[in-house]
Amino acid sequence: MTEEPTPAPALPWSDSFSVGIEALDNEHRALVRLVNAVCAAWHEGQKEAALDAFDSLTVLADDHFRHEEEILRGFPGYQDLASYVSEHQNRLKQLTALRGRFENAPAGSEEAEPCNHLIDWFVRQTIGHDAAIKSFRDDYRPLRFSSGSRKAS
Ligand SMILES: [Fe+2]
Repeated sequence: MTEEPTPAPALPWSDSFSVGIEALDNEHRALVRLVNAVCAAWHEGQKEAALDAFDSLTVLADDHFRHEEEILRGFPGYQDLASYVSEHQNRLKQLTALRGRFENAPAGSEEAEPCNHLIDWFVRQTIGHDAAIKSFRDDYRPLRFSSGSRKAS
């Protein structure tokens, strides 16, 4: 029995998507996986599966944006949080509008290619909008919890 070759993901991971903060990068990877799940289902003509993956992507994007805002709030030198939050709200609205494109186009259609718009949404959000985080990441110190064993000083 021969296995079907795995199709290349619509959005391959790129190191340029990384901001250098592990927790956020793990979320970026999960977002990329969901973008690919949406696009794979879409191209196979499975509209319901594409919309389900899209809804998971929206939930994760919302959580991820709040996580980024929380981290930026912890950078004393960061002055532009209000516009950052506002931009996140715009991004979520764009995602809602984009879901409408998936709902209204026939799955798998070439002429109405909502998958390309979704990839564009992700790439611009990540490599464009996350520049503020990259510029502060060297100051980032994750909260560390004691494992219970303390060294004697
Ligand atoms: Fe991000």
